[in-house]
Amino acid sequence: MDKLLIQGGQSLRGEVAISGAKNAALPILCASLLSAEPLNLTNVPHLNDIATMLRLLGEMGVGVTMEGVDGLALSGAGLNNPVASYERVKTMRASILVLGPLLARCGEAKVSLPGGCAIGARPVDQHIKGLQAMGAEVKVEHGYVHARAQRLKGARICTDMVTVTGTENLMMAACLAEGETIIENAAREPEVVDLANCLVSMGARISGAGTDVIRIQGVDKLHGATHAIMPDRIETGTYLCAAAATGGDVRLTRTSAAYLDAVVDKLMDAGCDIVIERDAIRLKAPQRLKAVSLRTAPYPAFPTDMQAQFMAINCVAEGVATIRETIFENRFMHANELMRLGADIQIEGSNAIVRGVPALEGAAVMATDLRASASLIIAGLVAQGETLIDRIYHLDRGYERIEEKLARLGASVKRVH
Ligand code: EPZ
Repeated sequence: MDKLLIQGGQSLRGEVAISGAKNAALPILCASLLSAEPLNLTNVPHLNDIATMLRLLGEMGVGVTMEGVDGLALSGAGLNNPVASYERVKTMRASILVLGPLLARCGEAKVSLPGGCAIGARPVDQHIKGLQAMGAEVKVEHGYVHARAQRLKGARICTDMVTVTGTENLMMAACLAEGETIIENAAREPEVVDLANCLVSMGARISGAGTDVIRIQGVDKLHGATHAIMPDRIETGTYLCAAAATGGDVRLTRTSAAYLDAVVDKLMDAGCDIVIERDAIRLKAPQRLKAVSLRTAPYPAFPTDMQAQFMAINCVAEGVATIRETIFENRFMHANELMRLGADIQIEGSNAIVRGVPALEGAAVMATDLRASASLIIAGLVAQGETLIDRIYHLDRGYERIEEKLARLGASVKRVH
């Protein structure tokens, strides 16, 4: 199993390019199921989760060909097997995103329940409730969701809580339904908007994406399209935090600060200088950061996917920060590993109290989930001495060539087998 060996103490300086957004690419890959015509994508990140989704789509009969460095051509013409097996789904929960498109295009779907993961139970009851509202007959048995529908019918759906992939699944299903679907309490994340833009370029009729009410007028079929995946705002925020923690000065290109207001505000509160350009963002860190408290919530509030990274920077900041996690019930596992590096953290329910210490000390730690891995890297970059991070397969799911990008910024990071 690969590990990452980090020699702490370097300030990050220089420039790296940000990759396409994992959480936009995953639903957009599933949109290929909605049409028999080719969907051509660019700026697709090279990540394990993307490879997993492509294998899953291939098993269903979707044609996949790589085009150039970050391009993909997908064809749903050969779709003949509307099944997502447990073997495939258990490695990536986002596989649930095939459910809505399969039901809309084939009239049936058999998709394994994703099961929980390290950060929480992560049920999909809202996905099912919405499809049932659209007339689908859904049974959950032996760990699989079995869904059938002659043709889905437009409905008014109000989800019990804001759910990103729930909104995406229902929006894709509604594209081919008969009549109008209204999704209320919809997720407003930029990745939902990127998916909506791709679907509209395929001929879907969608309005309100990015607000909490999305209207979809069903059409009989969707045609092919070309779409560029939006930049990854969480990868962007992660590198900004790494630069902030190490007293660095970095410029991130092929990205935008447009979707990171809450994160940029917190980094400025911590004492960073941030310069926003049209498709780049530059951060100059202060000698020592000031602690910043935060509360995670659905977009446009502070993103839960940046919580672990901010816990890491608060470990070495001046002062005390309170971090409140409101989205997932178990997303503080990085705290125990950060404490192995000398951090002073107290967990009280969904609150973490972080008292900044003058320095962290390198140690052996273990990654538990994707964003927790990123927080351990940030802590390792500032710790004195060596930090060895185990189980970094979590990292490879969501960060493209991370050690290469960090090394380009002057970090001493290498992958050891
Ligand atoms: C998406 O997960 C992201 N993944 C997550 O990113 C992100 O953390 C999350 O949204 C929140 O922003 C992808 O987009 C592939 P939710 P998702 O449905 O859609 C509860 C990363 O690190 N809920 O918005 O699975 C759920 O348990 C990953 O890139 C239900 O109860 O999250 C959670 O408490 C991690 N029933 C809350 O809602 C449902 O049917 C929000 O979950 C659906 C969700």
